[in-house]
Amino acid sequence: MTEPIRLPAPRPASCPHCGGDGFVFRIAQGRTVAEACACSKECALCGGSGRTFGHDDRGYSVLRGCKCGADPRRLALLTGLRLPVKFVSVSLDAYRPKNTDQAKAVARARRFVDEFVPRATGVRALLFCGPPGTGKTHLLTAMLKELALKKAVRGRYEEFFLLLSDIRDGFSKGLSSREWLEPLRSVDVLAIDEIGKGGKNREFEQGVLDEIISVRYNAGRPTLLATNYPRPGATWKFGAEGEVAESLEQRVGSRIYSRLHDLCDIVDVVGTDHRKEQHEVRETKLRASEESPSRGPRPTRG
Ligand SMILES: Nc1ncnc2c1ncn2[C@@H]1O[C@H](COP(=O)(O)OP(=O)(O)OP(=O)(O)O)[C@@H](O)[C@H]1O
Ligand SMILES: [Mg+2]
Ligand SMILES: [Zn+2]
Ligand SMILES: [Zn+2]
Repeated sequence: MTEPIRLPAPRPASCPHCGGDGFVFRIAQGRTVAEACACSKECALCGGSGRTFGHDDRGYSVLRGCKCGADPRRLALLTGLRLPVKFVSVSLDAYRPKNTDQAKAVARARRFVDEFVPRATGVRALLFCGPPGTGKTHLLTAMLKELALKKAVRGRYEEFFLLLSDIRDGFSKGLSSREWLEPLRSVDVLAIDEIGKGGKNREFEQGVLDEIISVRYNAGRPTLLATNYPRPGATWKFGAEGEVAESLEQRVGSRIYSRLHDLCDIVDVVGTDHRKEQHEVRETKLRASEESPSRGPRPTRG
């Protein structure tokens, strides 16, 4: 029997909600959750279920995820990333390098995504190093998202400082270190942002980082990292408010630093603070509209 002719999945590129991705993120209990966009209900292939029937090489009937965006497996991967709210729509294409270091950084990020083979072990990881607002979190989150979408890679984003407080909570509820480490160990790609940023208990912070790095290393899975603390010899300095400037090596200790060196390519992401620049652009626009109100948006009647 011949298979019925399948119509291509609709490309709702004009959908105002998802811009053609077929999924959107919503916030539930402080976390970002991916769900099928309403436009995927009209998908000619799956009717919104996200699943289609096909045949494998031997002719057996198999259930596949639909490409329209409603595929429940893909949605679960996107939710599992635990992306911060501000970074759900980032992409590597949207990163606009402002200097050669940044161009190299985004090229390295892209190469990691392109070359990543799910379940291959011993992949070299990346550590993005740079001052505030140069796009390190942008790169980490965009990599995780693209790995999930293009290669069904199970990833997870963690901010080190928040992770520390989750771990403390876990301990106070009687969780063992094996229990809190397991979800961090088992994902294909883990991203830990802002390493070195901690509180007063440096011994505890270094211990946590050491355990995570070890457990990931033993599992043969890469850990992407970012930090504000410079590598030795860098031309910039960083010290959180009220702190003296330190290098990453001083901050995490030389033992962890040397392991990071062994496991990761250290990638400088230096440049001006994008947040500050955006703020200045907004201020300039506001000032311009105040100075010539006739060209600005009309005030609404209240
Ligand atoms: N080169 C760039 N092109 C486009 N957007 C950028 C670029 N650099 C930064 N941004 C945007 O600027 C904002 C700040 O960037 P991000 O938070 O990634 O910086 P960061 O290096 O992680 O800073 P911090 O060290 O303070 O955590 C984000 O919204 C990000 O998307
Ligand atoms: Mg950041
Ligand atoms: Zn849509
Ligand atoms: Zn579909």
